[in-house]
Amino acid sequence: MKQRINFDFSGTTTVVTGGSSGIGLATAELIAKSWWDVIVTASRSEEKTQKAVENISKAANEAWKNILVKALPYKAEDEISVKEFFNEVKKISNRLDFLVHGIWISPDTDFDKQTATLWNQVFATNVTWTFLALKNAKDIMKTQDIIDEVRWRIVLITSTNGVDSYGIFSAPYDASKAAMINMVRNIWEDFHKNHQIAVNGIWPGWIATEMNNSVPAEEMNAEMEKVWSKRMATPEEIAKNILAYLTLPYNSWRDHMVDGGYR
Ligand SMILES: NC(=O)c1ccc[n+]([C@@H]2O[C@H](COP(=O)([O-])OP(=O)(O)OC[C@H]3O[C@@H](n4cnc5c(N)ncnc54)[C@H](OP(=O)(O)O)[C@@H]3O)[C@@H](O)[C@H]2O)c1
Repeated sequence: MKQRINFDFSGTTTVVTGGSSGIGLATAELIAKSWWDVIVTASRSEEKTQKAVENISKAANEAWKNILVKALPYKAEDEISVKEFFNEVKKISNRLDFLVHGIWISPDTDFDKQTATLWNQVFATNVTWTFLALKNAKDIMKTQDIIDEVRWRIVLITSTNGVDSYGIFSAPYDASKAAMINMVRNIWEDFHKNHQIAVNGIWPGWIATEMNNSVPAEEMNAEMEKVWSKRMATPEEIAKNILAYLTLPYNSWRDHMVDGGYR
């Protein structure tokens, strides 16, 4: 049986939600460099989407490949929009092999100012829409012929916050990430056994993306003292971990922490 070696995406289509920035964008670029089609969710900012598509296409060009690079609208606010997104993926590429899901919000707020509305918003975006992405992706994947061993793969981007909670101000985000970690443990067996889809979770620690620009320097310096290499990881480093989970057939139901030995 043919087994894909690391980072060989030939003949495949990958969807990266949250692929217009940060870890998602780095993952989409690396997949484009690894030779095949990638569809990302459009940012709600048109300019950001355009820039992302340019960067992913540039990555493909560097690999001398003329591949499909597209950004499609996706509102993690409404069930129909998620369905329409996946229907459009099927229409455009006629297949879906890999899903990397990382859409999230974390409106850090003083605990006493947190409201039910805020908690519901965070859980809808980070948890309910993860469920919907899984459901819609599975519906496409399960209808395709198997080419490789455990042909289809899904990686959920969770967080170390889901276990080592960071602070009371990010309680809704941390709890939502714990829910996503649980989702990997819950669904993997059915997805793997009944649909040949491997599901894994990546837990990033401190990563140099926009979300961390607002962390005060003093707090960040103290945090970096707890990391083995005294720095944040780059989004590309996380992307490489994600690609390993997409391409290695023996990986299923793994929680993979990438936190630089944070203690
Ligand atoms: N960076 C870190 O240190 C770190 C650490 C641990 C875990 N993580 C996890 O890694 C993943 C990626 O993080 P990142 O920092 O790379 O993220 P990012 O650059 O902020 O990307 C987040 C993406 O989610 C999209 N999004 C949010 N709400 C949406 C909605 N309602 N509808 C459609 N799209 C929506 C954003 O689109 P817009 O452009 O429209 O806002 C953006 O594309 C997240 O799951 C995060 O929890 C990150």
